[in-house]
Order: sequence, then structure tokens, then C-alpha cells
Amino acid sequence: MKQKAETGGEVVNRMQVKLPALSVNEGMARAMVAAFVSQADPNVTELADIKCAVSEAVTNCIVHGYRDSTGYIILTVSILSGRVIKIEVKDKGCGIPDVKQARQPLFTTDAAGERSGMGFTVMESFTDRLRVTSKVGKGTTVTMYRRLSDRGRF
Ligand SMILES: Nc1ncnc2c1ncn2[C@@H]1O[C@H](COP(=O)(O)OP(=O)(O)OP(=O)(O)O)[C@@H](O)[C@H]1O
Ligand SMILES: [Mg+2]
Repeated sequence: MKQKAETGGEVVNRMQVKLPALSVNEGMARAMVAAFVSQADPNVTELADIKCAVSEAVTNCIVHGYRDSTGYIILTVSILSGRVIKIEVKDKGCGIPDVKQARQPLFTTDAAGERSGMGFTVMESFTDRLRVTSKVGKGTTVTMYRRLSDRGRF
């Protein structure tokens, strides 16, 4: 039963955008998700958490997925019955050789010392469920679910 509460039911509304993997689009993605999710009446904390999780996932596509290339990020956000927000962030970049290792707190492949290796940990703590699927040379898809507190809608 817990699983169902986390992952929601049928799609109530959905948005999808395809953005070039440019760092300016990280802010765009945050703003678009916030605007879309607002119709489900999230509280301030929920909205901030969702924006932060999206920001980490989109940044990863830009700095890691397409580190040696250019490409697109496909962002899909669904409002599911049960007041669950489902967010999918997909790139067709380099992929992750070992997802389990990549998800460990403090793990980073950044050699420049600018990154802390905490992005997946942030995504995990700000959502109810995080799924990462990846194939080297094909790309990465991050799927996150966050259930909103009950405010009498959906
Ligand atoms: N979309 C992606 N494509 C390819 N590799 C990725 C992708 N997302 C994450 N990774 C790999 O997983 C590692 C861990 O990601 P995570 O977001 O936790 O930390 P980080 O990005 O290195 O640092 P931080 O997010 O704290 O700035 C990255 O260093 C990178 O090697
Ligand atoms: Mg990161």
C-alpha cells in the first residue's frame, strides 16, 4: 500500500519540455516545474523541495551527461491522482557506468573539486522515491515522486 501512496494513480495533468542542455535552462526548468505544479496547491516547503530536486537532476544532465557533447534534456512532469507529482529528467548523454556507486553520498567524478557529490542524496531526501536508469553511451533517466500533503484537491 505504501508503494501506491508514493507513486500515485492515473495522470491528472502532464507537461513535457525539451530543452537544450545549457546552464541557463536550469533556472528555466525550475521555474516551469514550479508554475506547473502550483495548480496542485503544494505548500511552500513542498514546492521548494521539488524545485531543488529538479535543479539537481537538470544540472547533472548539463555538467555530467553532456560534459563532452551537446544535446537535449527532456523534462516530463505529471500530476497523478493521490496528489503525487512525478518528475522525469532524461538525457541522451554519456550515461553512468555504476548507478549504485554514483548514488552514494559524496561520490563525484568531478576532478576540478567544484562538486560535492551530493546531488543524488539531495534528490533522494527531497522526494519520496528516486529511480535512476542509465546506459553508458545512451543516457540517463531520473524519475522522482513526491506526494503533496492533503489540501482537499485531486
Ligand atoms: N545525467 C548524468 N549523466 C552522467 N553522469 C551522471 C549524471 N548524473 C550524475 N552522474 C554521475 O553521478 C555522480 C554523482 O552525481 P551527484 O549529483 O550526486 O554529484 P555531483 O553532481 O558530482 O556533485 P553535486 O551534485 O553535489 O554538485 C556525478 O559525479 C556523475 O559522475
Ligand atoms: Mg550533481
